[in-house]
Amino acid sequence: MTTSTRDPIRIGVLFSETGVTSAIETSQRLGTLLAIEEINAAGGIGGRELQVASRDPQSKPSLYRAHAEQLVREEGVRLIVGCYMSSTRKALIPVLERWNALLLYPTPYEGFEYSRHVFYTGAAPNQNSVQLAEFMIRKHGSRVFMVGSDYVFPYESNRIMSDLVLERGGEKAAEHYLPLDARTEDFAAVVKRIANAAPDFVFSTVVGEGTAMLYRAYRAAGLDPARMPIASLTTCETEILQMGAEFAEGHITASPYFESIDTDDNQRVIEAFHARVGEGLPANQCWEAAYFQMHLLADALRRADPDDVESVRRALPGTEFDAPQGRVRIDEQNHHTHLHPRIGRADATGRFEILEQSRHRVRPDPYLVSHTLADWSVSTALHSGA
Ligand code: ACM
Repeated sequence: MTTSTRDPIRIGVLFSETGVTSAIETSQRLGTLLAIEEINAAGGIGGRELQVASRDPQSKPSLYRAHAEQLVREEGVRLIVGCYMSSTRKALIPVLERWNALLLYPTPYEGFEYSRHVFYTGAAPNQNSVQLAEFMIRKHGSRVFMVGSDYVFPYESNRIMSDLVLERGGEKAAEHYLPLDARTEDFAAVVKRIANAAPDFVFSTVVGEGTAMLYRAYRAAGLDPARMPIASLTTCETEILQMGAEFAEGHITASPYFESIDTDDNQRVIEAFHARVGEGLPANQCWEAAYFQMHLLADALRRADPDDVESVRRALPGTEFDAPQGRVRIDEQNHHTHLHPRIGRADATGRFEILEQSRHRVRPDPYLVSHTLADWSVSTALHSGA
């Protein structure tokens, strides 16, 4: 296909607008569109506009694959942003590899993956799980009950959390999985098991619509977050909006980004977001990664031949951007991103009080070669009573 130097550059956007993870993926889509609007307003890529080719894969791995195949084969798209659940990313990879396309993936995930066709801009386990394990054991104790949705991210995240807890002398009380379409009564039954097991904390890798059901069932059972909090890598401002702030208050999340980060860069992007979509939708870590990864891609496109995937792939490693969480960088070796780990506790307003944060951004170690805190060991405790 020949392209003129004025043709738009097509960006495939694959975030679900329907299905179990539609709320968080809608936020990722909006973060992507905000960045694209900013990039185009600033002159695009050497005068070429970024043009969105968007599909709704309905939270189903098979549809991610089918839509990606269509975008690539029928519409000539080679640059795709998208995916929340790891099962959807894994479904896409054979298409990317077959047709030489790239995916930028803005979601925290379980690590232990590398594809030369994927760039990972959400947290790897050494940027959230290690910090969360260390914090929960230090503050609450080392006996953990694990509950997750029934797919690869929860299995692998629980394996990692088990290692981290066991090697620190802790204990796994139980490990339980629910289907992605589990209902309120299924969560009530799990919460009963949690109450009976009486762990020091619960590690939840429940995603999507089930998240609200878990936290509500927990509250309905009269369990107390101050004594036995739920700790998560994925429960963020958007899930809290879905469940109601009173059900999340007191629970803990590890994430490189919270809406409450008090910096000018963050305030500026949130204001631009709200000016575009209204005040009703919160920012969250997946929205932020979707936003900043577009700016990283735009920077790489300006230094590359935007119509040559190899050239874009070579330009992305080492790219940096002043994101709302702080300055981020795509690692030269592993396609993951240098990020700023934080621990937050949900408050009564649906936001997070940031309890601890790393003083330095942390290099991604997606294979968890080191189980120690690395740069996090110089973290700041923002609240001494935390
Ligand atoms: C996830 O599946 N990576 C949240």
